[in-house]
Amino acid sequence: MLQQPELQETSSIKSTQRVLKSLSTYRWTSLGALVSLLLLTIANAVTPQLFRWGIDEGISQKNLQIVLCSAAWMVVAAIARGVFNFGQSYLAEAVSQGVAYDLRNKIFSKIQNLSFSFHDQAQTSQLLTRVTSDIEQIRTFIGTSLIQVVGSLVTLVSIAVILLLMNWELALITLTSVPIAAWLMAQFVTRNNKLFRQVQEQLSDLNAILQENLLGIRVVKAFVRESTERSRYTTLNDGLVSANMKTISAIRNTFPLIFLLSNFVTLAVFGYGGAQVIGRRFSIGELVAFNSYLALILQPILLIGFAAPAIAQAAASAERVYEVVDAEVEIRDRPGAVPFDTCGGRITFENVSFRYPGATTETLKEVSFETKPNELIAVLGMTGSGKSTIMNLIPRFYDVTNGAVRIDGRDIASFTLKSLRSHIGIVFQETTLFSGTIRENIAYAKPNATLEQVIEVAKTAQMHDFISGLPNGYETIVGERGVGLSGGQKQRIAIARTLLTDYSILILDDSTSAVDAKTAAQIQAKLDGLMRQKACTTFVVAQRFSTVQNADRIFLMDKGRLVAQGTHDELMQTSPLYGVILESQVKPKEKNHPKLA
Ligand SMILES: Nc1ncnc2c1ncn2[C@@H]1O[C@H](COP(=O)(O)OP(=O)(O)OP(=O)(O)O)[C@@H](O)[C@H]1O
Ligand SMILES: [Mg+2]
Repeated sequence: MLQQPELQETSSIKSTQRVLKSLSTYRWTSLGALVSLLLLTIANAVTPQLFRWGIDEGISQKNLQIVLCSAAWMVVAAIARGVFNFGQSYLAEAVSQGVAYDLRNKIFSKIQNLSFSFHDQAQTSQLLTRVTSDIEQIRTFIGTSLIQVVGSLVTLVSIAVILLLMNWELALITLTSVPIAAWLMAQFVTRNNKLFRQVQEQLSDLNAILQENLLGIRVVKAFVRESTERSRYTTLNDGLVSANMKTISAIRNTFPLIFLLSNFVTLAVFGYGGAQVIGRRFSIGELVAFNSYLALILQPILLIGFAAPAIAQAAASAERVYEVVDAEVEIRDRPGAVPFDTCGGRITFENVSFRYPGATTETLKEVSFETKPNELIAVLGMTGSGKSTIMNLIPRFYDVTNGAVRIDGRDIASFTLKSLRSHIGIVFQETTLFSGTIRENIAYAKPNATLEQVIEVAKTAQMHDFISGLPNGYETIVGERGVGLSGGQKQRIAIARTLLTDYSILILDDSTSAVDAKTAAQIQAKLDGLMRQKACTTFVVAQRFSTVQNADRIFLMDKGRLVAQGTHDELMQTSPLYGVILESQVKPKEKNHPKLA
């Protein structure tokens, strides 16, 4: 989504504020980091005073005891600095890990909750970048940049006060350098902000190509596009390097100026302060101490300057992360939703029209039907006619645009999603398996199913013989997305996985399209009894003549409309389209079928 620049700025400020608010979960650790930081600043500020004391009271007065004593205190201060430095960075790091941990969990469970329509439109690589790189930016901001900025501000103010108290004339000379340095840093940041953002964007583009190629490596190889993909990646990689080099040269150009400024200040302090020492208005010890503070006062500005781009990046990242965290869950339980417990088998579509979110035309137009208990419905239609869309509406993956879907007379929107979906067994048109064993995949929805139960559904899906023939049987590991299995085998595991659930409505969307006709018929035969016994209604998006013939009724879809319904014989007589579709779409059961040969 394109945003107005000002809008973007305010929302990135808001997102940063939200990140800061999230620190309250870790308020004690954050407070510990802050206390360590203050103690560190004190230890830093004390050291030059010890120098002054050692020089003025010790060296000048030839008092060895004070010299040794101040030296000993300096050692103590150095140790304290080490301890508090460790303390502040350790605690800040701990807070940052906690915040990142919470954000990762939050975004992950949000991704789980978001509706199909969100995932239809979101890019996987974008989501991945948000969960990984963007959250990492936020973590770095909390763990490093934030403490740097707070520490720098505290140091800047406290040192300025000490300098003013020590010698206000010299202090004013010194402090003029602060706004100049701050201005130089601000220039650097505003001039290069775009550059920093560019680096980040280029990095995520590069990741997107990498991810796409990892997922689609087989397609890349099949189409012999390796060199094109390589050069696409190299071009972006070159861009990233040159953007990075630009930021480095910007840093090179600005920082010497600040160092030069600090040298001028040192000279001025040495000259003016030296004259005051000669005039006995300032002691040598004080001059040395003053000079040590100089190093401390320019350091914060440099640190803030270094932290600024990281903060800008983190703000942009926070905005992207909260965009997902705040994304509206379109499909959720309505107030007063009741659990869906029994199914009588009457599924009604009442003038259902449906348009996919973002689409301009309606995918379903005024579809109306009603099923009877224990009916087996075959849905038939040309590709793109809306068969899968009808199936998606029953478990409420999408809400209807107009009309209503009812089960036993009750609008499905009045049921809790969890209960509704756990009563619907669906085999998707596209099979997705997870990495793990075959047994784990089949028992995905019921992890504590016994091996016997797993074997039983595998037998129904005609997979048992194949699985038991494998050296590791049901414990065979399948790769990501089921690599190692054929298309038809994957489909059959998906069928077994669904059969193991407590479905009462069964939806099979083209689920045997990659299985050979004989096996499909065997599955069909096994399923038939099961469907009628366990399911109150079954929908099968038909690919085969045997399914159509077995069905109690056939729904014929055409361009989003339900154009005809009836038994095979009825439709053969009444619908010319039915004949056409049977011929063009449905795989013949037997070669001698006159219409299908
Ligand atoms: N997630 C989506 N977002 C937008 N439009 C979609 C989406 N899914 C499907 N469509 C569109 O809706 C129409 C119907 O798609 P659907 O998947 O229901 O067809 P189908 O009948 O199942 O086809 P097939 O036989 O090829 O599986 C198509 O024109 C398709 O472009
Ligand atoms: Mg489909």
